[in-house]
Amino acid sequence: MSLVDTYGRVHRDLRVSITDRCNLRCTYCMPPDFADWMPGDHLLSVDELMTVIEVAVEQGVTSIRLTGGEPLVRPDVVDIVRRINALPKPPKINLTTNGLRLVDLAHPLAEAGLERVNISLDTLDRDRFSRLTFRDRFLDVIAGIGAAQGAGLHPVKVNTVLMRGINDDEAVPLLRHSIEHGWHLRFIEQMPLDAGGSWDRGQMVTAAEIHDLLGEHFRLTPIPGRGSAPAEEFLVDDGPAKVGIIASVSKPFCAACDRLRLTADGQIRNCLFAREETDVRATLRDESLSVAERRERIAKLLAVSVEAKLPGHGINDPSFIQPDRPMSAIGG
Ligand SMILES: C[S@@+](CC[C@H](N)C(=O)[O-])C[C@H]1O[C@@H](n2cnc3c(N)ncnc32)[C@H](O)[C@@H]1O
Ligand code: SF4
Repeated sequence: MSLVDTYGRVHRDLRVSITDRCNLRCTYCMPPDFADWMPGDHLLSVDELMTVIEVAVEQGVTSIRLTGGEPLVRPDVVDIVRRINALPKPPKINLTTNGLRLVDLAHPLAEAGLERVNISLDTLDRDRFSRLTFRDRFLDVIAGIGAAQGAGLHPVKVNTVLMRGINDDEAVPLLRHSIEHGWHLRFIEQMPLDAGGSWDRGQMVTAAEIHDLLGEHFRLTPIPGRGSAPAEEFLVDDGPAKVGIIASVSKPFCAACDRLRLTADGQIRNCLFAREETDVRATLRDESLSVAERRERIAKLLAVSVEAKLPGHGINDPSFIQPDRPMSAIGG
């Protein structure tokens, strides 16, 4: 059985948000005084997460990405990875993190079966990092990236959101530094998903601008065969170094999307920008159902969500409305 939508897209990638909590306050994600957290009893337990993941894997999902919020603030994250890896047909397990806790967790996560990490970093300047995240934790991220490399989580991908007049002067230094340190850098266009609702299209640094900025200093050669990957990849100065650019807004890649999302409070979303969600938490907690009935219902709910998926995210339509929930609650 597989999760195919009405446009023929086969869904193989499940992004699982395991918490909406975070130990940073990135300006494009949540305001410094953000307090609109999910109620604790809405967060899925490891057993509940595993039920949805197992059913999804039975329906053809081959890749799980743990995210959040900050997935490494959840105390049972290593256990979650271990249990996913112990499934009869284990999917690939990746994780997106701000890196703060990787010094302690990179090795246990790798041993538990984590294959790779994406680490977010928008600047190489400690003071600027503090201004952009409201926490003086730059050195922890750098140490975390080193810990991930030391634990064999290769290649470590580093995600950067460039903001006009704020850190767009760092595109070239970030790529130089990444090449020197063996990081695989990817730039992500800023998306209208912040809790503060402050996204401004005119302020967004577009993929074309990023390409031009880098092109003044490096020879970029497109790498074909992107498949369903969000990033357009380029060889830098004939390789082996690469750089990725994720043009979510200016060049959407929805036609090849194979992603589905589970929020930390048990809602299936068929798109980052979906206006509707499919609740699985109620089914997971319905004690009148047997285990088999619960799993059967969840399989149906996954199929219903996939079937309702729209052809594209619609950010560029005049009628676009930003989702009610911010990125930290949906799972990036
Ligand atoms: C929501 S975070 C969750 C995982 C983890 N806390 C982290 O920062 O990597 C996932 C990714 O989304 C990115 N992100 C958050 N808000 C964004 C926005 N408005 N536009 C583009 N990317 C965003 C972050 O930079 C990060 O790379
Ligand atoms: S982008 Fe990640 S690290 Fe930054 S505030 Fe959002 S969830 Fe936290």
